[in-house]
Amino acid sequence: QTIFVLNGPNLNMLGKREPGIYGAVTLDDIEAMCRTEAEALGCKIDFRQSNHEGDLVSWIQEAGEQKALVLINPAAYTHTSIALHDAIRAASVTLVEVHLSNIHARESFRHHSYVSSLAKGVICGFGADGYLMGLRALIKLATPQ
Ligand code: DQA
Repeated sequence: QTIFVLNGPNLNMLGKREPGIYGAVTLDDIEAMCRTEAEALGCKIDFRQSNHEGDLVSWIQEAGEQKALVLINPAAYTHTSIALHDAIRAASVTLVEVHLSNIHARESFRHHSYVSSLAKGVICGFGADGYLMGLRALIKLATPQ
């Protein structure tokens, strides 16, 4: 089983970016944590980040073709991207949405997500641990009980 772990704009700046909100953890740290967790779960991960909306759209299409699971932090595109919404809908991938911060406790423009209605579930507010929760949730969803 492969999980695409997709990260949107500005997440390459983690560690330097608004540490009061996002903490000191870097995206490389998150990737390392995800790799350790994936090994424990017995799955493969494909970890990517882009600042470009179209890359995220293409990667969702690729996940759909490969029948991969998707853990995505769409970052600011969460709140703006109908293109991402349409891509997820068309690919009909099993997807979990994750955010480091609790988007509901922040500015009102962060309260709406174009992704959530298509996600199996949403994890926010637990920092980098949310990625590990998301990986576990996806493997559980994909494993016949
Ligand atoms: C974020 C929350 C978004 O509102 C913001 O635009 C981000 C990061 C998070 O992980 O908390 O870039 O997705």
